[in-house]
Amino acid sequence: MKILTVHGSPDAKGNSAKLLNACIEGMKKNKDAEIESIQVYDYNVEAVWKDYFGDVMKKQTDKIKDDMPALKKKMLKADIILLSSPIYWYQMSGKLKLFVDRWTDFINPDFTTALKGKGLALLSTHGGSHLMNGSDYLQLAMCATADFLGMTWMGAIDCRARMNDSWDDGLSVEQARLFGEKLSTGVNLIGQKVL
Ligand SMILES: Cc1cc2nc3c(=O)[nH]c(=O)nc-3n(C[C@H](O)[C@H](O)[C@H](O)COP(=O)(O)O)c2cc1C
Repeated sequence: MKILTVHGSPDAKGNSAKLLNACIEGMKKNKDAEIESIQVYDYNVEAVWKDYFGDVMKKQTDKIKDDMPALKKKMLKADIILLSSPIYWYQMSGKLKLFVDRWTDFINPDFTTALKGKGLALLSTHGGSHLMNGSDYLQLAMCATADFLGMTWMGAIDCRARMNDSWDDGLSVEQARLFGEKLSTGVNLIGQKVL
């Protein structure tokens, strides 16, 4: 299984990174897993522009010079794409959202996409001290996004992690490790073969 992990926090050693590292550790238990890990903050991703969707239909999105062509190549090589993000106002981080907006690049005029059949999974961390769990909203959004793009939703792990606080949530870390182990063999957390 080829897995691309995309980290979406400005903090490469923060809460979401800890959850992601545990997940990658789990993936590595499978010697056949090929894992590529990137940080979206290391790349230049332009926001969508006026008449962007017209350019998508004409396959002219690469006229904007940024790192999307390289990022799209990485996505196309992968069987599974795993996003990790802090929750910012009930959503993914803005930088990661710019990247996901640009997945529109893949849509063909007949609304098929080259992402069809690829797995999509999510890790997120949040303060969690408010009435609503931001990760739940994000999971719904990403599940629907996967469906729209013809991808297979493989599920998500979220974790409550306070800002500027030490963090030691063994249960979430253990879940993330198990999630990674399962993903590396192409199944979701409850063992359904989804690829
Ligand atoms: C701009 C911003 C917005 C945030 N919005 C939320 C939110 O809506 N809900 C929540 O539970 N936590 C929120 N948080 C807290 C972060 O999601 C939380 O601290 C997260 O674990 C940080 O992850 P990181 O260490 O990987 O960057 C927010 C933090 C920031 C900086």
